[in-house]
Amino acid sequence: MARPLSSDTTGPAKEHDCAVEPTHSGPISAPAGGGPLEPPPAIHLEQVSKTFRLESGKTVEAVRGVDLEIPKGDFVCLLGPSGHGKSTLLNMLAGFMKPTSGVLRELGKPITGPGPERGVVFQRDTLFLWKRVEANVEFGLKARGIPKENRKQTVQHYLELTGLESFAKAWPKQLSGGMRRRVAIAMVFANEPQVLLMDEPFVGLDIARRADLYAVLQRLHQESGCTVVFITHEIDEALTLGDRILVMVRGQVALDEPIPLARPRGAAEITSPEAQALKAAVINAMSGVVTDDER
Ligand SMILES: Nc1ncnc2c1ncn2[C@@H]1O[C@H](COP(=O)(O)OP(=O)(O)OP(=O)(O)O)[C@@H](O)[C@H]1O
Ligand SMILES: [Mg+2]
Repeated sequence: MARPLSSDTTGPAKEHDCAVEPTHSGPISAPAGGGPLEPPPAIHLEQVSKTFRLESGKTVEAVRGVDLEIPKGDFVCLLGPSGHGKSTLLNMLAGFMKPTSGVLRELGKPITGPGPERGVVFQRDTLFLWKRVEANVEFGLKARGIPKENRKQTVQHYLELTGLESFAKAWPKQLSGGMRRRVAIAMVFANEPQVLLMDEPFVGLDIARRADLYAVLQRLHQESGCTVVFITHEIDEALTLGDRILVMVRGQVALDEPIPLARPRGAAEITSPEAQALKAAVINAMSGVVTDDER
């Protein structure tokens, strides 16, 4: 996707300058009758918009007035035509970018910048090339001050779960693309994130590698109970992984549906009549919509 040279209307997020602070304390509300407080959703967006100002003076409304609630533990897949705001939304959730208006909250607290409780995996992996695989996985644990003995155990656990135990001493350049993605996944899960944000993490991998990574990701998601927002252009990938499917069109949520398929999901489940109906709804939500190159 061609991305125009631009300056963001708000600039990069700095500590404490990210979300527009609400005047109230978030979505926690006491039910009538004084019962227990309801836990806040993992993610809550209120009227979130993001406008970029290009050097030409033109503005691009990448995200427009999005309201969204994602309960804890949900696996949400985000689809949509190219250039319609998916990555912009994810970048705001990661705290890398602040909204032009609106509020994003994680577990009831406004997102004011990146945080260790939010793990991010991009299309391009971001391994430290000068560190061995095990040191890459250990990096976040060290940064969080976890004692050495505990770090070793955790690193071992995630290397085993991602099938990388025999590559612990390897350098990133000695690994295939699929193995590097597995290291990236082991890195984020080792940090035990509450929210995992993934932007087309498996793009360019062959079907066998993807199937392998789907299994790894599903196992880790089940084991950790974390909340996942996963961007993809592949409807079958979304149907295999997600609990819920969102389609973004022109910066807004055009479709928001649960994925009512039994797990584990293989070819039979994702080609069932229910899956086909959902696929048709996704295609319909995107049909006739131009991509960023044509806008
Ligand atoms: N930093 C930026 N400066 C200016 N415009 C931007 C910037 N980032 C994104 N945009 C514009 O915002 C719109 C949404 O972009 P975004 O990257 O969110 O789309 P996307 O849905 O993730 O697309 P793709 O599927 O191709 O990755 C596009 O028109 C894009 O050109
Ligand atoms: Mg994108």
